[in-house]
Amino acid sequence: MIRDMEEEIEKMKKVVQKTVSQARYAHSLRTARTAEELCIRYELDGRTGYYCGVVHDMCKEMSDRQLISLARLDSDPVSDVEKGRPNLMHGRAAAVMLERDYGIDEPEILEAVKYHTFGKPGICDLAKVLYVSDKMEPGRQTVPADFWKTHENDSLNDLVIWVLEDNIRYMSEIGNDLSPWTEEFLFYLVKKD
Ligand SMILES: [Fe+2]
Ligand SMILES: [Fe+2]
Repeated sequence: MIRDMEEEIEKMKKVVQKTVSQARYAHSLRTARTAEELCIRYELDGRTGYYCGVVHDMCKEMSDRQLISLARLDSDPVSDVEKGRPNLMHGRAAAVMLERDYGIDEPEILEAVKYHTFGKPGICDLAKVLYVSDKMEPGRQTVPADFWKTHENDSLNDLVIWVLEDNIRYMSEIGNDLSPWTEEFLFYLVKKD
């Protein structure tokens, strides 16, 4: 359980700074700030969003072996896409690590970190916020300059749908396989609206 969020944020900033490159650390902080803003916009706790941004990529630079052995501990099956590119399991690995090594038991935080790469049907609003923040933080070259202005009044679901469609377009442009979760997530959201 997180007793003192500010203390926890400071602690995890140090952990992340030590384990990932400077560029990735900077991305994590930008994701954290974006997530905090979005949490406030959608009436969630801003500092919890910030925390999720700080930690979401903490396992991104681990070896494939480390990632696979951590991800196995969550007892979900490993998809073919993940088997081919174990790095895609860095969210799962981070969720396992946060729970096992840092005593985090807030289900929404663990869910947000676990699914930040692909999303998943039925994820909580905090997880949607982290999904969007990771893809649309201001340091990403692919974010259109007027993106945040244009989408200022979007519902959280509309924002996620936009990002998912953009992501699917981008993945097909660069010829990468999509995780089945990403498409399922989009169908789920579109159906719901
Ligand atoms: Fe990531
Ligand atoms: Fe990220």
